[in-house]
This record gives sequence, C-alpha cells and structure tokens, in this order.
Amino acid sequence: MNTQTLATAEQRAAARQLVELIGGNWATQAIGVAARLGLADHVASGVTQVDALARACACDASALHRLLRGLAALGVLRLDDDDDGGRCSLTPTGELLRRDAVLGLNAHAQWWSQQAWAVWSDLMGSVRTGQSTRQRERGQKGFDHLDADAESAHLFHRSMVELTRLVAVDLARSPALPDAGVVIDLGGGHGELLAEVLRARPGLRGVLFDLDHAVDGAQAHLREAGVAERVTVTSGDFFAALPRPVDVVLLKSVLHDWNDGDAVRILQRARDALAPDGRVLVIERLMPDRVEDLPAHRTTTRSDLNMLVGLGGRERTAEDYDALLSSAGLSRRRTLAAAAAFSVIEAVAQAPARRQGPPCIKV
Ligand SMILES: C[S@@+](CC[C@H](N)C(=O)[O-])C[C@H]1O[C@@H](n2cnc3c(N)ncnc32)[C@H](O)[C@@H]1O
Repeated sequence: MNTQTLATAEQRAAARQLVELIGGNWATQAIGVAARLGLADHVASGVTQVDALARACACDASALHRLLRGLAALGVLRLDDDDDGGRCSLTPTGELLRRDAVLGLNAHAQWWSQQAWAVWSDLMGSVRTGQSTRQRERGQKGFDHLDADAESAHLFHRSMVELTRLVAVDLARSPALPDAGVVIDLGGGHGELLAEVLRARPGLRGVLFDLDHAVDGAQAHLREAGVAERVTVTSGDFFAALPRPVDVVLLKSVLHDWNDGDAVRILQRARDALAPDGRVLVIERLMPDRVEDLPAHRTTTRSDLNMLVGLGGRERTAEDYDALLSSAGLSRRRTLAAAAAFSVIEAVAQAPARRQGPPCIKV
C-alpha cells in the first residue's frame, strides 16, 4: 500500500514544519558568517555590488552571491539583480549586524555561531550525563574557558553587552532599585546594566565586580557611557568575600550559569555583603511551570539548554529561586516582570534566627 496516500493534509503540513525546524541551524551559520565578514559594515559604507563585496571580504564571488541570496531569504538584506551581477542593501534587521549599530548584535551572531555552536554540537552528551560539553571534554567549569583565551573573552563580553542593552533601560527603571546608595553588579561583565542604572539614578554609586578578563573592557565601556567616575571596577571571584557593605547586589544572568550548590554560594556571598536594609536583585528569565509552543517559552528553554551544554547551569522556576534564596538566608520580597520575559526578584536577608534552620539546598 502506498502510505503516502494515507497521510492527511495536516500531517504533510506538520512534516514540512518539522523539516524547517530540523534545518534551523543554517540561519545561525549564514548570519554568523555575515557578521564575521563584516558584510553589513561594507554595505553600509557603500560597497554594495557583489563582486566588489567579494573583493572587500576576500571571498569567492559566486559563493558569496549564494550566501547573499540566503541572507535575502532570511530578510537580512535585499538583493537586486543588475548588469554588474547583483547589488545588495540592508533591511532593518541587517542594519543590526553593523558593528556600530545602536542595538547591534554583531558580536552575539559571531559568538553564537562559533563558541556556542561548538558546545551545542554534543547536546547528546550533555543530555546523557547532565554535564556541560566543556566539563566533559576539557574538565572546564564555569568561565574557565575564557581565562586563557582573550579573544573569546572579549567576544563573549561584547555579546553580553549587546544582549543586555536590549533590556537595560527597562531594568534601570525598576522600582526595586533605590535612588541613592551603593550598588554592586556581581558578574557585571563590561557594565552595560550598571551604566544604565547609574545614568537613570544620579544618586547611586556603583561597583563593577567580575573576573580579570572582564575588567579592562569594563573600564573602557563605563568611560564611554560617561559614568566611570561613579564606579569602582574590581577584579575578583564572587565565590570569595565581596566588597561591603552595599545597598544593592545586582545578579543579572549570573545564577543561571551555575548549578544549585554554586548558585547558593554566590547568594550567600551576596547576602553577607548587604548593608542593613540592603537587597539582592536576581534578574533572570523564569522557567514557566508548564512550557508551551510560545516564542517566550522558546527563548527560555533555548537558554536553559544553552546553560546545560555550555556551563552546567540551568533556568529555574519561581519556586526554584525561592528555594535557592532560602538556602542562602534570603527571602523573596517581590517579583517584578521586566522586558523580554525577564523578572526582577527582590530578596532581603532573613532574620538571623531563621538562617540557622536546615538549608533546603545542600552546598
Ligand atoms: C552571563 S554573564 C552576565 C554578564 C552581565 N551580568 C550581563 O547580564 O550582561 C556572567 C558573568 O559572570 C562573570 N563571572 C563568572 N564567574 C565569576 C566569578 N567566579 N567571579 C566573578 N565573576 C564571574 C563572567 O565573567 C560574566 O561576566
């Protein structure tokens, strides 16, 4: 029997949809290569004709033309045939691949198509073992992989600046932030969020705290943002003692990098650094209790798997965060929704008597 004839129109549509999902990696590589070649910068500078672009990018003209066609199909640029063999222009999406675009994502496209791609290639190993690819293959934990690779470290921190810039203005307006005092951004990277917070609240001073490979870039970034004179940049390890006392500890996209035991240790250090009445602000995407076929849920579950393969971390539900906070001697005061499915969880130190109870999460 010809089974084809038994398939319904709905099944055929589902199969075609699955073919598109299976082939989704081509967009990552096409956009990543465009970013690495600096295609958008060349086009923006007036090099729009395909042969001239190929010379500017040191590429084979015919192969580059094929890449440009793919990018046109993805809506990244427009490709018009002309007597010279094709000319392209940038769409609003393509403009974001320019290195100097206001909300540009050039570094993120490069990071995702190279370093992230490499660790995703053995998702199977991570699903079988629960360990990150870097842990399994090289015995590397946390951000060890960036210690001896300055180029990757720079790309990673630029990528984080680009992603955080998409939400920083909104986060800086959060009512969970006070107007005066000292705020420390733990694992603050190059300081994109801290800069926005200080710009929005002139009465605050800041401490940018991160590993060696972040701090030089942070100094430069904070200078460019015009807030450097209100920030102390400190290189250190947030598993050890922190500068204290501080009124606010910011932890954006940090706890999701770590397993539960490490996340509790970071929260304990944060709690110990607080001034009386100080608060910890955990800024993360919350894993919904029930995941559905929704764009926001795709973003959160993609990030969850990215944490698994890259760092051995995870995205967590609101309940999971309550358990971490409680184990670290902190209590959640409120949770505020923010842009792009982020939440701001505001936590304060528990009264000393409550801290003596058994921890919910063993560290
Ligand atoms: C995912 S990034 C988040 C950066 C920034 N908070 C943001 O959202 O843009 C995690 C940051 O934690 C920093 N980090 C990792 N381990 C650290 C440690 N032991 N001590 C201090 N910072 C650390 C990394 O260097 C990196 O900048």
